[in-house]
Amino acid sequence: MTIMIGNRNAVPTEEVFPELTRDVIDRMSNAKSARLREIMEVVIRHLHAIVRESKITQGEWSQAIDFLTRAGKICSESRQELILLSDILGVSMLVDAVDNVAGPGISDSTVLGPFYAGHQRELAQGDSILLRDEASEPLVMSGHVTDPDGRPVADALIEVWQTAPNQLYDVQDKDQPQGHLRASFRTDMAGTYRFRTIMPVSYPIPNDGPAGQLLAAMGRHPFRPAHIHFMISAPGYRTLVTHLFLDGDEFLDSDAVFGVKPSLVVRPELKEATNTVEYNFGLARELRTEETRSPSFVAGSNRINSSEL
Ligand code: BEZ
Ligand code: FE
Repeated sequence: MTIMIGNRNAVPTEEVFPELTRDVIDRMSNAKSARLREIMEVVIRHLHAIVRESKITQGEWSQAIDFLTRAGKICSESRQELILLSDILGVSMLVDAVDNVAGPGISDSTVLGPFYAGHQRELAQGDSILLRDEASEPLVMSGHVTDPDGRPVADALIEVWQTAPNQLYDVQDKDQPQGHLRASFRTDMAGTYRFRTIMPVSYPIPNDGPAGQLLAAMGRHPFRPAHIHFMISAPGYRTLVTHLFLDGDEFLDSDAVFGVKPSLVVRPELKEATNTVEYNFGLARELRTEETRSPSFVAGSNRINSSEL
């Protein structure tokens, strides 16, 4: 690959200004964190490679800076454009693949997304997560939480959230009672959980900002297949962040954020005239006990303070 400099010299792009890359990396010799230095070295090498390989022009770089500036400016307590960008570019699912353990007896994880709103009211087994009626088909979800050997995990915290039939989460929609279609449960001694909800619907991720513009420019749609979010935590286990998707959804093969895994697709069965899904979640043991895996972004203002738990 060659690049024209000042209309005169044809220079192989990989040879453009290599000492700059070395210099930027070498100036981290006093970095306080070895891990930060390790990561930044890779970031710098790859960023410089992007510029060389794509032969980025001054105008294109200005556009990129403007794009990132707009993405930052649109962020608020209930809008996280940077998570959206990470999601639509497949980075969130790649981090998920690199950082999460898989194996027998352990459920698949997927993206957290930007609409987790923190710990919600704790309900009793079998309760409904709705705060107002919806003209949708009811759904009963139940199952067990187990360790990798299939033994029940008692007192696990199960947090669930989903959109309303209007395709919006409560934190996106002032007309919904805050906390609607989200709640927390505890498993009993047998590791059982059970709650009532409504059939989830597919919906577009927020696409009225830079992430949406990028999706459109790349010729992609913004839809996610219908799903319910789960975050399951228990002392001694890795927190499982996952969803269950509905079989048959038209967007299962083209999820805007690449979050679908076959093991997470469920088909409701009619039991006593009600749609019912039974699904067992397997938790991985936590080996790195010092680690905290709490989400860094909590959408909306309907979270309950940890002092209230
Ligand atoms: C969600 O499922 O809530 C979601 C995930 C990624 C981006 C936007 C929304
Ligand atoms: Fe979602």
